[in-house]
Amino acid sequence: MLIALLPGDGIGPEVVAEAVRVLDVVAGDRLTFEKGLVGGAAYKAVGHPLPQETLDLAKRADAILFGAVGDPDCDALERHLRPEQAILGLRKALGMFANLRPAKLFKELADASALRPEVAGAIDMVIVRELNGDVYFGEKGMRKTAEGRREGYDVMSYDEDEVARIARVGFETARARGRRLCSVDKANVLETSQLWRDVVIELSAQYPDVELSHMYVDNAAMQLVRNPGQFDVIVTGNLFGDILSDQASMCAGSIGMLASAALDSNQKGLYEPIHGSAPDIAGQGKANPLATILSAAMMLRYSLGMADEADRIEAAVAKALENGARTADLGGAMTTSEMGDAVLAIL
Ligand code: IPM
Ligand code: MG
Repeated sequence: MLIALLPGDGIGPEVVAEAVRVLDVVAGDRLTFEKGLVGGAAYKAVGHPLPQETLDLAKRADAILFGAVGDPDCDALERHLRPEQAILGLRKALGMFANLRPAKLFKELADASALRPEVAGAIDMVIVRELNGDVYFGEKGMRKTAEGRREGYDVMSYDEDEVARIARVGFETARARGRRLCSVDKANVLETSQLWRDVVIELSAQYPDVELSHMYVDNAAMQLVRNPGQFDVIVTGNLFGDILSDQASMCAGSIGMLASAALDSNQKGLYEPIHGSAPDIAGQGKANPLATILSAAMMLRYSLGMADEADRIEAAVAKALENGARTADLGGAMTTSEMGDAVLAIL
């Protein structure tokens, strides 16, 4: 099976390299890897953050392992040339609309959480975030008001089919876990959210075995730190999901720990750590590779039918943490490759 490796910018290449070492050990005989340029690295090399060649590779591959994009050198470029457009473009072009972001506290990391250990210990949820719509992909631009002031605008919208297809993923994910789904919106203010809520309620008739609740996004942000253990599966839109998943990651110990999958309707997926390119620590061996290693495990499970191998990786990560392996974000001093070594030693 062909894996497209898109390491990207900042710490992306360092963390992807560790995940590849791990994949080689558990499934090297069945995987071939092909690297592609993406993000600021691609812009600097060939003048575009998502070159056609990379897009073709991503389409050809059975799954994609992605590092991170974002490069301060590129912040002044026109928006369509910025590194972030690469990940947004890939998600859209490949129809990867369903983002699964599991947040679970490894019990060894209770002290690394920003929350008290007894609160953090209960975290075990999946955030299902929509990826192909919302204010991310609406009409946007800069214009002048009648009075001549500059005005930026971004249109938020969802149509009912877009809501229904992600809500379905939410219900199915809940059905396979604790059977509780919390739909997060801002229906008290936004029409987009009112439609979201209406469609989720309509669909719930097909899932009588799943307990559905609704929460406004501001309350959800508060509940995530007050009592995160109450959540089983959260389903939400692109923007709210972006924000809440970063928050959930910190509650679960470190943003360096959270893996994610972006899936199309056939379970083909792009797998990436939820953290960004972290340019401040790039190239210094300080990054935690576990989120990418855990993303590789998700890839084996969801897209490649290798659940046993995925289990092995996840167990090895847990064991390494139990043995005291810690990068700087977890309060330790290990380098990126030493953390990779710690996982490999167990495998
Ligand atoms: C994420 C990131 C991206 C997003 C950026 C890099 C465009 O923050 O995957 O959460 O906003 O979706
Ligand atoms: Mg984000």
